[in-house]
Amino acid sequence: MVTGAGSGIGLACAERYAQEGAIVIGMDLNEAEDWKGSMQGAQDDLFFQLNVCDYEALEAAVKETVERFKRIDVLVTAAGIGGGGPVHLLEEAEWDRVQSVNLKGTFLSAKAVLPSMMEQRAGSIVAIASIEGIVGAEGGSTYNASKGGVISLTKNMALDYGRLGIRVNSICPGLIETPLYHSIFDNEIMKPFADRYREQHKFGRFGKPEEVAGAAYFLASEDSSFVTGTALVVDGGFTAGHSVGMTALLGLE
Ligand SMILES: NC(=O)c1ccc[n+]([C@@H]2O[C@H](COP(=O)([O-])OP(=O)(O)OC[C@H]3O[C@@H](n4cnc5c(N)ncnc54)[C@H](O)[C@@H]3O)[C@@H](O)[C@H]2O)c1
Repeated sequence: MVTGAGSGIGLACAERYAQEGAIVIGMDLNEAEDWKGSMQGAQDDLFFQLNVCDYEALEAAVKETVERFKRIDVLVTAAGIGGGGPVHLLEEAEWDRVQSVNLKGTFLSAKAVLPSMMEQRAGSIVAIASIEGIVGAEGGSTYNASKGGVISLTKNMALDYGRLGIRVNSICPGLIETPLYHSIFDNEIMKPFADRYREQHKFGRFGKPEEVAGAAYFLASEDSSFVTGTALVVDGGFTAGHSVGMTALLGLE
């Protein structure tokens, strides 16, 4: 089950799981156009158009899924939004908007699937957080706080549900080229900042949604059977340290 499956990282996770032979249930606020386009052979009724802030809708989707397929092995929470600004300028409503989708939406999605996973005594929850939940970003405020909250929430769920065989981890991507990324950086004002961000990824490029999906596949699979409570950084080295460009002097370019 993948939230935010209509676009970007969530869609890439859904595609990867489908390639690996899973039955994938997509959930997204938006209609399933991209989902239908790229999930070859996917049935329309495996997609729920819902808001992750709406617990009743999540519960109904989980109920229908369990009735039909008997179990839910994996939940990926990729539904998320950008937003923020420096604290003194940030409207209370903007703070709430970002927290409600990114943090509360993660909580509600997990809350909806946990009873099934508890009954099965097995399951893997993978929350898409961000490196911005680990380090600051200028103007980050509510977004960064929401992602820090997601990392913390997954660690706590790992403690609570480990004895029931449920693993809970987060992934912290660096900047990944998705529609969300393009909506923020594809303009003249933001371009110079995008260039500087790109340089801090040690391969000199942004990440691809499939590269996050690879990590999400690992955390869902038996290969990660002893991994829980981790925040897996998938950031091309962004948080490893600052680049000042000395690799050229060292003959390393
Ligand atoms: N792109 C990046 O650089 C990057 C980096 C780190 C973390 N992330 C996180 O990865 C996740 C996915 O981001 P993306 O870049 O793929 O963005 P995206 O905009 O391409 O996809 C996000 C999807 O979530 C859906 N969504 C938004 N609000 C929703 C809601 N209330 N209920 C249901 N669905 C909702 C959107 O409709 C969209 O399809 C987000 O949590 C984002 O914060 C992205």
